[in-house]
Amino acid sequence: MNLRQVFVSLLMFGVAGLLLFMYLQAWIEGQHTASGEKLQQQITNQDFTLPPPGTQNKVVQSGHVPPGRSRQEMAISGSRHWQGKADSFGAVAVSLVSRLSDQQKISEPPLSQFREVYLPLALRPLNKTLVKGDEWKDVGSTQEKRRSFLYEFCQKYNSRKKLRTHLVHMVSRIYVEDRHKVLYCEVPKAGCSNWKRVLMVLNGLATSTHNISHDDVHYGKHLRKLDSYDLKGIYTRLNTYTKTIFVRDPLERLVSAFRDKFEHPNSYYHPVFGKAIIKKYRHNADEEALKTGSGVKFKEFIQYLLDSHRPVGMDIHWEQVSKLCYPCLINYDFIGKFETLEEDANYFLQLVGAPAELKFPKFKDRHSSDERTSAEVVRQYLKELSKEERQLTYDFYYLDYLMFNYTSPIV
Ligand SMILES: *[C@@H]1O[C@H](CO)[C@@H](O)[C@H](O)[C@H]1NC(C)=O
Ligand SMILES: *[C@@H]1O[C@H](CO)[C@@H](O)[C@H](O)[C@H]1NC(C)=O
Ligand SMILES: *[C@@H]1O[C@H](CO)[C@@H](O)[C@H](O)[C@H]1NC(C)=O
Repeated sequence: MNLRQVFVSLLMFGVAGLLLFMYLQAWIEGQHTASGEKLQQQITNQDFTLPPPGTQNKVVQSGHVPPGRSRQEMAISGSRHWQGKADSFGAVAVSLVSRLSDQQKISEPPLSQFREVYLPLALRPLNKTLVKGDEWKDVGSTQEKRRSFLYEFCQKYNSRKKLRTHLVHMVSRIYVEDRHKVLYCEVPKAGCSNWKRVLMVLNGLATSTHNISHDDVHYGKHLRKLDSYDLKGIYTRLNTYTKTIFVRDPLERLVSAFRDKFEHPNSYYHPVFGKAIIKKYRHNADEEALKTGSGVKFKEFIQYLLDSHRPVGMDIHWEQVSKLCYPCLINYDFIGKFETLEEDANYFLQLVGAPAELKFPKFKDRHSSDERTSAEVVRQYLKELSKEERQLTYDFYYLDYLMFNYTSPIV
C-alpha cells in the first residue's frame, strides 16, 4: 500500500463516517419530532379521537378498512378530519390551528374563509303547511315547547361576543338530504341508524327502510355530510333547510354505548379503548385481559371518561351532544327525543313532506335480543359507581341535561 492509497482510503473512511453521522443526526431529529407530534396530538385530541387531518378520510373514500376496524366505525370516524377544539357553544380555540404543522395547514381549507359566517343562525318558525290531520296537535305543541326552551337557554348562556367559528368542523356530523331539504345531526345511540335509513329512502337511494343492512347504513358512501360542500353550499343549506337533531337521556345514551361497544365482541373498541382502559384502571389485570381489551367493567369505563388524562381520546358514542352538534349555534328547527322517537320522527316526516307510506322504522338491528337500555337498566349500572362518580358523570353531561330539559336520575 503506497502513501496515495493510504490517503485515499483514509479520505473515504472519513467521508463514510461523515455520511453516517449526518444520517444518524437526521434520524434522531426525525424521532424527536415524531414523538413531539404524537404528544401534541394527544394533547389536542383530548376531546376527540382523530387522525391527522385528511389521512383517514382518504382511507374511507378508497374503501379500504384497516384490520381491526369495522366499516361502520371507519365511516363514523372518517369525516372527523378537522383538528381543533370548541367549547360547548362552539367558540373555537383558533389558537390551536397555529400549532399545526405547515404541511397540515396547507392541506386544510384556509381558516379565514370561515371567519365571516356569523352564528348562531336565526330560529325560524316551523312550516306546518304539509301536516295533515289533528293527530299531531300534541306532538306539535311539545315540539314548540322544546324549541323555545332550547332557544331561551341558549340566549341566556351564549356569550354575546361575535363568534368566529370553524364552520366545517361544526357541521361535520350533519347529514344532508337535498330532495326534502333536510339536515340531520347524527347523535349515536339515539336512533341514528334508523334515521340514516329514512334519509336514504327520502333521497331515493333505497326503496324501503327494511332493506338496508347495518353495514350499508354506516358505510357512509351514500349520504353526504354537510362538510363536504363548499362554504356557500353549507351556508345556504343551514339557512334554508329544516335542521333536526334527535337526543336521548344522557346517561341512558352512555350506558347504551357502553353495552354496545364493550359487552359484545368488537374488533375496534376492545383493542383500542378496552386495552388502554384495563391497563390504566384495573389493578392486577390478568394477561388475557391486557392482551384482548375485552371485559371492561362499567366502573372502569367511567374512570376513563372522567379522567382528565385519558389514555385514549373521546369517541362520538359518548361525546356530549353539545360538542357533536352545537345546538346553540345551529339553532335546530326540530328537536326530537329518543323517548318519543317514533311520534317525533313521523311528525317530522310530515313537516318535510315525506311520502305518506314512509314511516320511521321500529327495529333495533344490533344485538336485537338484548333488553333496551331503559331507566331501570341505567339504575343497575349506576349502582356499580360511587356516589362521587355518579355526580361527576352527571356533571360531565350537565349541558346536555340542561339544553334538552332532562332530569337527573342521581340523588
Ligand atoms: C311552506 O311550505 C309550503 C309547501 O312546501 C310552501 O308552498 C310554502 O311556501 C312554505 N311557506 C313558507 C313561509 O316558507
Ligand atoms: C321540562 O321537563 C319537565 C319535567 O319533565 C316538564 O314538566 C316540563 O314541561 C319540561 N319543559 C319543557 C319546556 O319541555
Ligand atoms: C329488498 O331489495 C330487493 C332488491 O335489492 C328487492 O327485490 C326487495 O323487494 C326489497 N324488499 C323490500 C322489503 O323492500
